[in-house]
This record gives sequence, C-alpha cells and structure tokens, in this order.
Amino acid sequence: MDIEEGGLTVSVPETRDGASEGTGGGVFFNPTQELNRDVTVATLRAYRDREPRAETYLDAMAASGIRGVRAAAEGYDVTCADVDPDAVALAERNLDANGLDGETVHRDVNALLYDEGPFDVVDLDPYGTPIPFADAALANARNLVCVTATDTAPLCGAHLQSGIRKYGAVPRNTDYHPEMGLRTLISALVRTAARYDVAARPVLSHVSRHYARTYLELESGARAADDCVDQLGYVDGCEDCLWREPSRGLIADPAETCPVCGGDRVLTAGPIWLGAVADADFARAVREAVTDDMGEAKRARKLLGTVARELDTPTHYDQHRLYKAVGRARHRHGRVRRPAAGRGVRGEPRALPRDGGQDDGVDPGDARGGPRRRRRRDLRLGRPASLSHPPRFCDYRPNRRVCLAPRPPPSAPFAASSTSRWTDR
Ligand SMILES: C[S@@+](CC[C@H](N)C(=O)[O-])C[C@H]1O[C@@H](n2cnc3c(N)ncnc32)[C@H](O)[C@@H]1O
Ligand SMILES: [Zn+2]
Repeated sequence: MDIEEGGLTVSVPETRDGASEGTGGGVFFNPTQELNRDVTVATLRAYRDREPRAETYLDAMAASGIRGVRAAAEGYDVTCADVDPDAVALAERNLDANGLDGETVHRDVNALLYDEGPFDVVDLDPYGTPIPFADAALANARNLVCVTATDTAPLCGAHLQSGIRKYGAVPRNTDYHPEMGLRTLISALVRTAARYDVAARPVLSHVSRHYARTYLELESGARAADDCVDQLGYVDGCEDCLWREPSRGLIADPAETCPVCGGDRVLTAGPIWLGAVADADFARAVREAVTDDMGEAKRARKLLGTVARELDTPTHYDQHRLYKAVGRARHRHGRVRRPAAGRGVRGEPRALPRDGGQDDGVDPGDARGGPRRRRRRDLRLGRPASLSHPPRFCDYRPNRRVCLAPRPPPSAPFAASSTSRWTDR
C-alpha cells in the first residue's frame, strides 16, 4: 500500500491487524515510528547548519527505505542498505517513484561500512539492540551517528543479564528506567567510539515506551575521546528512601549503605553516561526545523521543546512516585514538608528544591523513616535539628513529572524530562 509521509508517497507492506511493529512476513514497516522519522528529518535539516560538509547519509537498515527516501528529499546523498533483497528492491522503487537519486545496496551493513565507508551520517535502526553494528558505524562515520535501540528491557535493567552482556554495564531496574536505558545505551556507544579514539557526544536523545533514540556527534582525537569517557560513571540509589548519587569514573565504589536512611537496599548502576543527553541549542534548532507537512509535527515540537528545556543532570524523579513515597510517610506521621510554590525552572512545572536546605522542599531522603530516625540521620549528616521537624503538608499532584538533579551540588533546579518515561507512546 502507499502511504504519505513528510510530503512523499512511499510504498510499504500492509501491516497486520493491530500490529504496531513487526515484519509481517515481508519487508518491515512500522507506521508508529513516524514521530521518530520526523525527528530524524528535522535533525538532518538542523545538522546541515551545524556541519555544512555533511553530505552522505547511510540508511543502514533501510527496509522500505523510508528514512533514506526522506533524507534524499532533503538533499542528502543517500545509500540504502539491507540484508533483505525484497527490502532493497522496495527501497529502490521508493526512491525512483519520488524521482530521487540514491544508491541501494544488498549487503550486511557491517561489511558495507568497512568496505565503502566513511559516510558522513550513519543511521542505525535495527531490530532490538544496535550493538552488533556499533563498532562498524562508529569507526566508519564522519559526523553523526543516529541510533535506535528497541531492546528496552535489557537497557533499563528489567532483563539484567541481557543488559550486562550486550551493553557491558550493569543497568538497574529503577524508577527512572527509560533514562537508565538511554544512559546505558549512550555509555556503550561512547565506549565503543573511544576504542577508535573518537568522541561520541549526544546532541539529541529521546525515549518512548518502545525505543531509545540518540544522535551522537563524532570528533576524532584521543583527548576528545578521553573527555567523553570521563563522563561515564555510576549511580547509587537507595530503594527505601529514594536517595541517589551519581559519581564519575570507571572504577566502581558502590555505597554499601544509604547515607540518608542507613538502609542497605542500595543499588548501583553503571558505567552509564552521566553527561548531557542533548545539546539544548541544537534541540531548539531541530524543533525549528520541524515543518507542518510532517504527520507528527505537533508531537515532535512538543518532544523537542521538552528535550531543549530539560536539565542535563542525571537522574530525574517521577513526581508521582516521589509524592507517593512521601505520602506514605505523611500517612504514618501526619505531616510532610511542603514543596516549593512556583519555583519552576525555565517555564517547567514547579521545582522541588533538593537537599533539605530550606523548609520548602520534598527531600527524597524523607520518604521513609519516623522522627527519631530522621533526627539520627540529621545528626549523621550534620543538618540543623530544626530540619528534622516533620513537614506540614504534601501538595500531592499525581502524574506530574519532574527531573530532580542529583543531591550535590545544593540548590540545583528541577525540570520536566523527556526521558522521564518512554514519552511518545
Ligand atoms: C527495524 S527494520 C528498519 C526499519 C526502517 N529503518 C524504517 O524506518 O522503517 C530493520 C531492518 O534491518 C535489516 N537488517 C538486519 N540485519 C542487517 C544487517 N546486518 N545489515 C543490513 N540490514 C540489516 C532487516 O532486514 C530490516 O529490514
Ligand atoms: Zn536510604
């Protein structure tokens, strides 16, 4: 059947009834990935201003060739590759039908990249994990590598062993699992690029229920690669009181007990990427490049607006869960400290100050524990005794999402996060 996407007409296989994803026995096409593709096209447009020399685009797993066709319509010099001969034939037909130039290649993309690379932009859109293609892509791309990963369960620690095997990291199943997934993915890609003395810096990333997507800008050089590796590290998190702390470095030094509640249910994840997952200015430029002929223009703009605004510090808290945890304490002890009124960050919903520095914040560490335990904790942390006084009330707002920066440094703000859940589905 023919579909319209981004002002082009592309022939794709019929989807099975109700299927949002799958091969359908033929060439793969997933209509629900239109948002991902619209963001890709906007990124390719914005990237041209950032790096005018970027000309060649490899649609490494082309299937119907829809990404390649859309990139060709943007003026990129496109190669569509696939191991499935039917896919290659369909991609070729789709380029022709739209009067666009482009090469179609029936090859394993790893072999192609080593034989015919480098390409300026390489787009990996595999089934499941992109890791089997990461070395070839990062060693044979010049400017930008676009990566989709749909294996969300291994990435976020829900399938722990699989995550460890594939990503060479320990991803933990936390409250912020989409962000955990994204940071695990970026970590593996950064370490892969570093093997070739290449820095891979995420300039844009977003997550949905079904996938994580990141765009990594490359820079050759050992020092640049070292700078990237320096942004890897670990996050300790207490399952009881929600305390979390990221620490950079590749030598793990996991906390054995929680410094806030003294509990021993501390999970350590890593090495994950602790740097920014996007460049705010670039995200704004990508948002500007979204046009109304895109079927998902509205959602793309909303998503990219959030990406541009969100904090670049790990990790975010789900406000609903945070208040739920604090609410339990309220239920037990009657009072909860009041969140800051209207202390929003860059237009985001209200901020939650951290660290218990003022009597106006929800401190994750206060989620559990009675007055005596809190007093002991305050003594241990050297906090003024007055802070151990129970809070007054809880402004409970379900389904509100915030990004809570890590505890130190104090007084850092909070914002909504595009990685606070698998956002676009
Ligand atoms: C998820 S689909 C790609 C979807 C497509 N990019 C889109 O936007 O609709 C994955 C594709 O990767 C292809 N593929 C799998 N392994 C490959 C390999 N080693 N080299 C090239 N293509 C491969 C499959 O045949 C399949 O068509
Ligand atoms: Zn704790």
